[in-house]
Amino acid sequence: MKQGNGEGEDRYATLLNNAGAIRAICSAVEGTLGPKGLDTMLVGPNGEVLVTNDGATILERMDVTHPAARMLVQVAKSQQQRVGDGTTTATVLAGALVAEGVAQVTRGVPVSKVVSGLQDGVQLAAELLQSRSRAIEGLRDPRLYRVAYVAAREDRQLAELVMAAAERLGVETLRDESCRLADAVSAHDKPVSEVWSGLLLRHKPIHTQMLSLELQQPRVLVLHDALEPEKQDEEAMMTEAGFHRYLQLKEEFKANLDKLPRLGIGFVAVDRGVDQEAEQFCADHGIVVLQRVPKRDLQRICEHTGARPIRRGVLKKAPAELAPYLGGCETLAYDARIEQLRLTGGAGAPAATVLVGGSTAEVVGERARIARDAASAVQAAVRGGYLPGGGAVEIAVAHELDRYRETVKGMEAFGVAAVVQALHKPLAQMVLNAGFNPLEQVEQVRAAQLAEQTDRIAVDCDTGRLMDVLERGIVDPTQVKVHALLAAGEVAAAVLRIHTVIKMRSGEDG
Ligand SMILES: Nc1ncnc2c1ncn2[C@@H]1O[C@H](COP(=O)(O)OP(=O)(O)OP(=O)(O)O)[C@@H](O)[C@H]1O
Ligand SMILES: [Mg+2]
Repeated sequence: MKQGNGEGEDRYATLLNNAGAIRAICSAVEGTLGPKGLDTMLVGPNGEVLVTNDGATILERMDVTHPAARMLVQVAKSQQQRVGDGTTTATVLAGALVAEGVAQVTRGVPVSKVVSGLQDGVQLAAELLQSRSRAIEGLRDPRLYRVAYVAAREDRQLAELVMAAAERLGVETLRDESCRLADAVSAHDKPVSEVWSGLLLRHKPIHTQMLSLELQQPRVLVLHDALEPEKQDEEAMMTEAGFHRYLQLKEEFKANLDKLPRLGIGFVAVDRGVDQEAEQFCADHGIVVLQRVPKRDLQRICEHTGARPIRRGVLKKAPAELAPYLGGCETLAYDARIEQLRLTGGAGAPAATVLVGGSTAEVVGERARIARDAASAVQAAVRGGYLPGGGAVEIAVAHELDRYRETVKGMEAFGVAAVVQALHKPLAQMVLNAGFNPLEQVEQVRAAQLAEQTDRIAVDCDTGRLMDVLERGIVDPTQVKVHALLAAGEVAAAVLRIHTVIKMRSGEDG
């Protein structure tokens, strides 16, 4: 089936249809933007409820079938994966870019001109944002706390927990590509929230007598294997030699187990099973064993304790040769309150855990999402600095971009104009969510910024008066804003370029 491929009346049918679907998606999240944004309640097919303010979560859980709308959902996803916060901003910007682009096309500007102007405009605007970025001077910089506080929706406790975790990791680790501070956040439905230097492992030790154990300075062994004797194949077992070998393997395994306490090993994490004999042996010797530990957790254990994962065959080596594979930590204890295992003070790379608590599952889920947004924002600010928030800097960049537009010869200027207009949208939406007139307020902010030659004026959402956002400490990470704009620009260009929608036969989706 073909839609909107003709000339004349339905020339814009596909474009308008796609734009309409995108408009609908945007309206589901834009009401959550900014300090006065409200929450959205998502209701599942069986009546389950999720209340959230997080753009990515709303879009991820929404039942979206329209293909263009799905493209928009991708913007939020990409924002979530790459920077972790700013998913609503990215979605709102993408929606505005599409709407402004469509307005230019329906005025008669050729799509190709709108798209190339839009792409140039977005690129330049991203560079302008970057050039206005202010650096963070270390973890004690008060601006960094403000980044956490604003992203944490002004929840002081969560902002402080996240900052404490950041301090435990240090600037070097936070800058490292492989580190994600947001991963440090764990949630549970008990009213305890805290931070410590180490890991939280969501496993119960196999043996109940281990539940009250607290180990000091245990060495740590990580096995990418099962903790059981090597397997003999069935056929070989039928022969006498085979049976002999079986007994020999069992003996070997027993000898290997004996090495564990001699090496001071107090903690063994295994990605497969543990046989009964090994289980009993470890229990008798006060060794905590976790079986079927997920890969990601094994990796965290290795990184933090400095352990190097081995196969069980390596256990045949002499104890002195095994020592380099072992990791270490200060304490290992089962915390019955939260029913998880705590490992602190690993000998490897620093690790931090932020435990976020709350009284009900719904509340905890949202608190953990907020803490993760704040963690992502803090990390992004450490890596790439910060900008005035509250929609202020976008207005300043829109003004600069508009001056550039005046120099553009040809129809591409209309595409650039679409970007200029879209950059007003974050401020306009926040003002609208706070119950003020967006047109009036955006104009006032523009005029005030121009008069004072600054990018730090926006609207106080409590009073509707203008305010200096830097003085108030309303700041956003540069990376969050730049990525939101680039991702929004990409999807807007892609949506505008779609001229025809054709249904594929099933099974032909590549
Ligand atoms: N008190 C405030 N006054 C003005 N603007 C604020 C204030 N607090 C936050 N903001 C602004 O709100 C915006 C962030 O809003 P919000 O957290 O709702 O959405 P997001 O970060 O884009 O997406 P999400 O958090 O859903 O992933 C930022 O631009 C921030 O500067
Ligand atoms: Mg946010």
